[in-house]
Amino acid sequence: MTCLCVPVLVLAACAVPVTGHKTTGLLGDDHQQRKIRTTSGTRGKVVSARVRMSGMDGGRGRREQEAAGRGGRAPAGGVGMWALAASNLASLAYLLHQHYRPRAGAGGSVPRTGTGSDDANGDAPAPPPPEPAVTPDAVIDLELGDPTMYEAFWREAGSRAEVVIPGWWGMSYFSDAGRLCQFLEPELEREVRRVHRLVGNAAVDDGYHLVVGNGATQLFQAAMYALSPAGADRPVGVVSAAPYYSSYPPQTDLLLSGYYRWAGDANALDVDGANNNDGHIELVCSPNNPDGAVREAALSGGKAVHDLVYYWPQYTPITGAAAHDVMLFTMSKITGHAGSRLGWALVRDRDVAKKMVYFLGRSSIGVSKDSQLRAAKILAVVSDAYDGEDETRLRLFDFARRRMAERWGRLRAAVAASGAFSLPEETTGYCNFTRQTVAAYPAFAWLRCEREGVEDCAEFLRGHRIVARGGEQFGGEARCARVNMLDRDRVFDVLIQRISSL
Ligand SMILES: *[C@@H]1O[C@H](CO)[C@@H](O)[C@H](O)[C@H]1NC(C)=O
Repeated sequence: MTCLCVPVLVLAACAVPVTGHKTTGLLGDDHQQRKIRTTSGTRGKVVSARVRMSGMDGGRGRREQEAAGRGGRAPAGGVGMWALAASNLASLAYLLHQHYRPRAGAGGSVPRTGTGSDDANGDAPAPPPPEPAVTPDAVIDLELGDPTMYEAFWREAGSRAEVVIPGWWGMSYFSDAGRLCQFLEPELEREVRRVHRLVGNAAVDDGYHLVVGNGATQLFQAAMYALSPAGADRPVGVVSAAPYYSSYPPQTDLLLSGYYRWAGDANALDVDGANNNDGHIELVCSPNNPDGAVREAALSGGKAVHDLVYYWPQYTPITGAAAHDVMLFTMSKITGHAGSRLGWALVRDRDVAKKMVYFLGRSSIGVSKDSQLRAAKILAVVSDAYDGEDETRLRLFDFARRRMAERWGRLRAAVAASGAFSLPEETTGYCNFTRQTVAAYPAFAWLRCEREGVEDCAEFLRGHRIVARGGEQFGGEARCARVNMLDRDRVFDVLIQRISSL
C-alpha cells in the first residue's frame, strides 16, 4: 500500500467578528467564502473546519433566520478556525481508488437479501444475490416508481461500478467551502456536467449553477422556498397541470409553509389577462408523471420549476438542450439508484441557487458525500461507455431503451388483446442523442379502464392483485391508474400475464 501523506497547512486561523448571534454562518456566509477563496490558491480545498454547530438554532427567531437565508446572507459568528489543506482531496481520493482493491462489504455489494451469505469480510467479491422470486399469484406492487429494472444492468457492470470508501474520507460537512454549494463534491459536479453534455438534454454549460440535494424531492422543496417572494402577505400558490405527479400536493403542504401552498391544477386557474399567473409557482414535469406527455409551462411569465427527471433518452426523444430557470434531475430515473437519494438542480439565477443551498443547509446540512461519490462513479461508468471506441462495454441508455421498447411493445399488445384498458397513444420524435426517430417509452403506464361498469381503475386492478396508484391522486380521473414500468423483469412478466388474461 502506498503511503499517502497529507500535508495540512493551517493557512488561516481567522477570528471572525462575533456578532452576538449564536447562529453560525455555516452555509451562505459571504465572509467565510471570501476568506477561503483568497487563501486557498487555485486548487486548495478545505479538509477540516471547526465550526461551532451547537448554536445553530439557538437564540434567534425562526423568521429572523429565514429572512437571513432568504436574503442570501446569513450573519457570521461562532466560526472558529479553518484549516486548509494544500493537497487536493479529489485527486487524493482518485489516487486511493487506484490502489485499493475493491472488496465485498465496502462498496454496497453486500448481499442484502436472504442468501445466508456471511462472507462479507472475505477477500473474494461476493456474487450478487439472485433476483427475488415472484410467484404467479403474488400481489405485485407497482404503485411507486421503484426503478429496480436497472439492477440487471448494474449486476453486469460488476466491479467497474463499485466504490470503496476509506474510513477517513469525506468526514467534513464541506466539500469545498469556497463554492456556492459548499457540500457539492467536485467529482459529482464534473460527472453531472459530463453526462448532460453527452446526452445534450440540458444547457449545463450556459452559466448554470449546480445544487445537489437528497433526491429531486428535497430540491423541489428548496426551489419552492427559494422562489416564493419574501415578505408576502399570503403564501404563494403552487400549481401544476393535471394530471400532475401525485406527490406534489402533499410535499408542498407537508409543513403548511407560510411561503407557499398547493393551489391545484394550473389549467383550472383563472388566467384572464391581469390574473395570468399572478405570481404562482408552476411545476412543469416533462415528460410528465403520470402520463408521459411532453409539456411546456401552462402559465406564462411566471416562476416555474421544471421537473426533468424523465428527460433521458430511454424514456423520450432528446429534442434539445433544456434551458429553464430551475431544472431538476435525479439518479433514480437515470441509472436506477433511487436508494442513493441523490438529485441535482441546474439553476440559472445565482440568488435562487443560494437560497436553495440555504434551505438544504437548514434542512439536512447538505447531502451525504458517500452518496455523491457513488453517484459520481456510477455516472462516470455511464459516460465512459459512450466515450471510448470499445463497443463491448455496457451502455446504460442502450440497455434501458431496449428494455423499455420491449416492455412497451408487450404492454400495448396485452392491452389491445384484453380490451379492458386503453393507453395514451405512442408518440415519436427525432432524438438528437440516438440520431434516430424514436418512440417515447414513459416510465409509467397511465392505464384507463374501458370496461363497462368499472369506475375505479386502481380498485379494479387491485382485484387482480396489481397495486397501482389511482388517477384521482394525480388530479385526474378515477378511471385511470398509474402503473410502474421500471420494476424487475419477473414482476413485469406477471403484470403482462395478468393484463392479458383480463
Ligand atoms: C444536436 O446535437 C449536436 C451535436 O451534439 C448539437 O451540436 C446540436 O446543437 C444538437 N441539437 C439540438 C437541437 O440540441
